[in-house]
Amino acid sequence: MQTRNLHRIRPCIPPLVLHACATAALAVLSACGGGGAGGGSAGSGSPPDAAAQAQARVQLGERLFNDRNLSGSGRMSCATCHDPAFSHGPSNAQAVQVGGAFETEFGLRASPSLRYLDGVPAFSLADGSLASLRGGLMSDGRAANLEAQARLPFLNPLEMDNGSVAILAGKLRRAAYAPLFVQVFGETADDELKLTQATQALAAFQRESAQFHPFDSKYDRVLQSLEVLSPPEQRGLQLFRDPEKGNCMSCHEIVTSSGQQPRFTNFGYAVLGVPRNAELPANRDPAHFDLGLCGPQRQDLNVPAYCGAFRTPNLRNVARRPVFFHNGRFSSLAQVLEFYNTRDSDPARWYPTVKGVVQRFDDLPEALRGNVNRQAPFGSATPRMSSADLQDLQCFLETLSDGHRIGTPSREACR
Ligand code: HEC
Ligand code: HEC
Repeated sequence: MQTRNLHRIRPCIPPLVLHACATAALAVLSACGGGGAGGGSAGSGSPPDAAAQAQARVQLGERLFNDRNLSGSGRMSCATCHDPAFSHGPSNAQAVQVGGAFETEFGLRASPSLRYLDGVPAFSLADGSLASLRGGLMSDGRAANLEAQARLPFLNPLEMDNGSVAILAGKLRRAAYAPLFVQVFGETADDELKLTQATQALAAFQRESAQFHPFDSKYDRVLQSLEVLSPPEQRGLQLFRDPEKGNCMSCHEIVTSSGQQPRFTNFGYAVLGVPRNAELPANRDPAHFDLGLCGPQRQDLNVPAYCGAFRTPNLRNVARRPVFFHNGRFSSLAQVLEFYNTRDSDPARWYPTVKGVVQRFDDLPEALRGNVNRQAPFGSATPRMSSADLQDLQCFLETLSDGHRIGTPSREACR
């Protein structure tokens, strides 16, 4: 569960923030005397309709999400990199997206899908071993929650690049939806608070709107006994689970302890040794390495054993992604599966050869290459799966795409 951070909000909490718990909202309302900040019906003394206010907050979040004016270039919104028509992921096959005030700045990582993030727990270290780390947003877990995350793209010079909090707050005050904003949060002259409120609306939109977690893939329908997997899909699922074959489930977990719908991730971290992507402008500098948990973007965990680790993403809608892994190194799912299957048996296929020596795990400095995970499907001198197996595995992954209409046949090779 995400915390709702009610207590971070300044002095007199606008009543509309408290959609989660109507009683608390009323208690706070009377404590605040209903004065001023709430706006709308609060001032009149009549209790706000909590559901309607929650709805308004989500609506505001959607407006913010799609507002291209909230960028230095005036041309980029959250939806530019997280397109609803592409499962809230990128709509093009560029490894990284281009942002900045003049749309000339290349990002550092591939744009992820924003679906099903409501299940990501807060970042935790447990016993400190890499295997025990969990959660946090961003592929290095550096954002504590959706609210904290939403600040980052607005001010990132490689992304929306608004210049300053004051400039952004000014845009929020002048936007077409400014009245809705004031209805939800009340007036404020405090720019920081204005931005915090915008991030709260964005988080509410992502958490509460059904479009971010429809749970209507073929696989969901199979769990509801409304569909059946075809024989190739069923075989693919077996390979996904089999500890000696795909072993995908050891990280892309299917069964959740709480009995919730499967997320296809344990929210943990692993070092896969994904090959360096020469297409990334940042990689022109041979000394630059994106080491995930241990930096350079994340700054607080400089532990060598964590270097190269990224959060295990969920695999819903993965068959629709145009690029894969944190550095966008691969552009087809088939390639990703081949990589998993032959990384260790045929490294020359994936890593460059210099003077006759294959540079295994070339996107990590040499001293850190020992961090790379060697459990199945890796760590075998011969591939664990045949090419027919990989096709079945792909057929299974295709059943994880949202918006399945019951009875629609799978593509021919997967029937
Ligand atoms: C220029 C492209 C771009 C724009 C614009 C953009 N993002 Fe992102 N977003 C990314 C990239 C790249 C990442 C992955 C960053 C990382 O892992 O370090 C990301 C990550 C995220 C995540 C974390 C996903 C996860 O799996 O943990 C969320 C949530 C998110 N973005 C929401 C937003 C919101 C809300 C906005 C608008 C305020 C926005 N993004 C604007 C590119 C973009
Ligand atoms: C040791 C844990 C682990 C195992 C086992 C594992 N994965 Fe992953 N998977 C990850 C991590 C971590 C990433 C992200 C790595 C990165 O971005 O550098 C990932 C990324 C992916 C991606 C790319 C997703 C995206 O959004 O770009 C796909 C597809 C994938 N895994 C499928 C599989 C399949 C299929 C299997 C089994 C053959 C498998 N994984 C086994 C941890 C694992």
